[in-house]
Amino acid sequence: MAEQSSPGELKGLVLAGGKGTRLRPFTYTGAKQLVPIANKPILFHAIEQLAASGITDLGIVVGDTKKQIVEAVGDGSRFGVSVTYIDQSAPLGIAHAVRIAEPFLGDSPFILFLGDNFLKEGIASYVEQFRSGEYNSLVLLSPVDDPRSFGIAELDGERLVRVIEKPAQPPSNMAVIGIYFFDANVFDAIRQIEPSPRGELEITDTIQKLIDSGCSVRADVIKDRWIDTGKHDDLLEANHLFLEDLTPALMGRHDEASQIQGRVVLEEGAEVVNSRIQGPAIIGERTRIVNSYVGPFTSIYHDCLVADTEISGSVVLENTRIEQVGHRIEHSLIGKNVELKGHERRPHGYALILGDFSKLHLP
Ligand code: DAU
Repeated sequence: MAEQSSPGELKGLVLAGGKGTRLRPFTYTGAKQLVPIANKPILFHAIEQLAASGITDLGIVVGDTKKQIVEAVGDGSRFGVSVTYIDQSAPLGIAHAVRIAEPFLGDSPFILFLGDNFLKEGIASYVEQFRSGEYNSLVLLSPVDDPRSFGIAELDGERLVRVIEKPAQPPSNMAVIGIYFFDANVFDAIRQIEPSPRGELEITDTIQKLIDSGCSVRADVIKDRWIDTGKHDDLLEANHLFLEDLTPALMGRHDEASQIQGRVVLEEGAEVVNSRIQGPAIIGERTRIVNSYVGPFTSIYHDCLVADTEISGSVVLENTRIEQVGHRIEHSLIGKNVELKGHERRPHGYALILGDFSKLHLP
């Protein structure tokens, strides 16, 4: 085993660059890491989990969407961390992002957190394990249904022997999740790898290089629920998972004709008029719900209007208006600044302006 690099403070490195093509059309106009889960950007969940496990020095790798990320996160002080932004000129791979962060990371061991990964129970126990263990790297594994879509681990008993990026013939269903622990030996490994067929410096090839060069790489199967929120259904699932434990809080207002049932959050300035909200559900700041039903596992973000409509099990992004939709909206992900308007009487036709990649299932 290579000696574990300087025991310096554990740092955090969050990746918030990349393209987000799989979340289109939501990511045409925004960073995928800022899509909210339970009305909180995915990236904030990651930062809060890092802060909760004692990380104070955080690097965030940013690309094309830097402006929005910086606007949302700022200097990190409201999370109790100090943030250094690291510019990545193009999404040339996760290992590339780590390489360009070397001046920030120095000799410190660090946690690499992909900004679109979501771990329900947080990372504190793994941080503790890495701090007290003698490994050069700790990777976390979770079983998946579609192993062709992830970095996959091949194990010999508990020993990690091989990691392969999105294999055509997966040796197991154990995915390497997007939260990794490394020490400074990782930089030597990155210097020795070549871009993959998709043109990226892969983190999986880096881990393989660490194994091959005699570093100790520990792999643990996690018990917690992990979601890579890269796709629509995963995002709805992460929203569902988080809302399961929602702590009710009514900062907004509701009139007497309205019913608020179960675990509901009305954020500051939210207003519910003549409507029923059946939790768990969260209604964002300044959002108005009028003559409507909002069902379980729904998150409606800031500055929206839902009027004369039933909606359930869905996520709605900011500044969207949904009015007089004749059928219940279910299991839907609705972007920002959308106008969805039905008719008071049954329409004879639909008037639609739909962006590229939109999905509309009409009854
Ligand atoms: O989610 C776990 C999976 O994440 C692992 O199983 C795979 O081994 C790993 O390669 C990665 O696969 P993805 O294909 O899901 O990675 P994606 O390109 O979606 O990038 C993950 C995050 O990192 C995303 O928030 C964007 C950011 N990123 C990505 C690249 C390639 C960057 O900031 N810079 C980059 O160059």
